[in-house]
Amino acid sequence: MIKKNNLNLIKLIKYYNLINHNLIYNNKAINRYKKDTFEVSVDKASNLERLKESINDIKNCSLKTNAKNMVFSDGNPKSKIMMIGEAPGANEDMEGLPFVGRAGALLDKMLAAISLDRKKVYISNIVNYRPPDNRRPTEEEVKRYLPFIIKHIEIINPKIVVLLGSTAMNALIGNEVVISKMRGKWIEKKFGNCRTSVIITFHPAFLMRQPAQKKMAWIDLKMIRDKKI
Ligand code: URA
Repeated sequence: MIKKNNLNLIKLIKYYNLINHNLIYNNKAINRYKKDTFEVSVDKASNLERLKESINDIKNCSLKTNAKNMVFSDGNPKSKIMMIGEAPGANEDMEGLPFVGRAGALLDKMLAAISLDRKKVYISNIVNYRPPDNRRPTEEEVKRYLPFIIKHIEIINPKIVVLLGSTAMNALIGNEVVISKMRGKWIEKKFGNCRTSVIITFHPAFLMRQPAQKKMAWIDLKMIRDKKI
């Protein structure tokens, strides 16, 4: 009897190995996506979807009325690094993605200089619709979109937030600061429930106008590269 039970047990183990029971009884979702896509936890994905819907529900906003598309984000929502720019421009408005124009090409180069690319970081903006003629968003517009970008940071919960330029800096750090004094420093901040390290650097569009400042941006990029997270 004992011998028969042992034989059954051996048969059962062989059978489990044959059917790859690890896969069947593993409680993680099967990843059927291409290799360079990512699984986002159900919560994070649904929170991002809800945030997108609430931005889409904004009423009486001339930015939204004049824009072709909402520009929500690009990159990996599981990234430990979140980069925040100012506002979409014409190319971003057309494609519905942040930093895809000339400033985006420079951002890609800056990221490549520290062995990162846009698929490895998460990118968004202070406002989600293009201001007409690429003007800066007004204080009122920034105020209106601020709760959304704070919620966005909270959902992504990054270890590092990189603020690109003074609009992002003033919106999230305060109006009393100037970028020449604030860039290249780590600042510990809390956005909603997310405690994170913030660094401010120059906006790529500013660097295109002032290429001499690229050496300062390089210092900031190395700080991001060398940060232990
Ligand atoms: N500039 C920004 O600040 N954001 C973009 O998405 C594009 C250009």
